Amino acid sequence: MQHPRHIVITGASSGIGLACAQHLAGLGHSLLLGARRTDRLEAFCAEHTNCRFGYLDVADPKSIPAFIEEHASWLAHADGLINSAGLALGAAPLQTSLEEDLITMVDTNVKGLFSMTRAMLPFLLAHKRGGDIINIGSIAGVFPYRTGSVYGATKAAVQVFTHALRMDLGGTGIRVSVVEPGKVETEFSLVRFHGDAAQAKKAYEGYRPLRPEDIATTVAFMLAQPAHVTLQQVLVTATDQINATEVVPVTPL
Ligand SMILES: NC(=O)c1ccc[n+]([C@@H]2O[C@H](COP(=O)([O-])OP(=O)(O)OC[C@H]3O[C@@H](n4cnc5c(N)ncnc54)[C@H](OP(=O)(O)O)[C@@H]3O)[C@@H](O)[C@H]2O)c1
Repeated sequence: MQHPRHIVITGASSGIGLACAQHLAGLGHSLLLGARRTDRLEAFCAEHTNCRFGYLDVADPKSIPAFIEEHASWLAHADGLINSAGLALGAAPLQTSLEEDLITMVDTNVKGLFSMTRAMLPFLLAHKRGGDIINIGSIAGVFPYRTGSVYGATKAAVQVFTHALRMDLGGTGIRVSVVEPGKVETEFSLVRFHGDAAQAKKAYEGYRPLRPEDIATTVAFMLAQPAHVTLQQVLVTATDQINATEVVPVTPL
């Protein structure tokens, strides 16, 4: 086994963040989990002795420093950050989209991820043992699609941030990477469609989407690379997904 790591995961209450927590806890790593639905994090940590959690709303400028302060002594050992907290809201052209959705996406996916990462850097730099920052971007940030202008732009920002931060951190041994998933069956679509379960279900019908565990194993593979190897940018889709929006099922389901 790799030596145990101390890894912070944002958005760990659901989907990709939760799958990363499950997979990495199973590998014996120590985890600090953040999200707004702490009841879910509490339930997870009750079953995993190497995990702790805290309330974290990355879109709230006061929440990040409070989370950091609360866990400062644990964070002194931190050598990993997985930024999974994020969301899409709505699937309408910009002209009929909601202003509040736009603001929440930018506050969460862009400002939240930037500020969370910045707040973690003093800890990641202090021990001089290197580390990993893995940002969950999206295929939407690589290949734009109709009705995805704001969400795609937030994820394009995550990609550019990743590559520029790697330059800022050159020589420190901190690897900075972005994982850009295609369609993954999580609560993502339920959130996107404002709780409309029927519409959310349709997003994953007629083909075989990725499971959040598929992204977790990708993240674990990245973390497990020897220190001199960085997987800078990993675009992962279901085999049935041929571009940002189209699916062609390989075989009947
Ligand atoms: N599913 C896909 O098809 C897909 C594809 C490409 C990229 N992604 C990206 O993958 C990441 C994870 O999404 P998912 O698919 O796992 O969706 P999900 O199941 O809805 O999980 C999203 C997570 O983000 C957290 N979150 C949302 N807003 C937050 C905030 N303000 N502060 C802290 N945590 C917040 C949620 O926790 P709380 O609500 O408890 O705070 C939840 O744990 C996102 O960045 C998303 O953009 C998803």
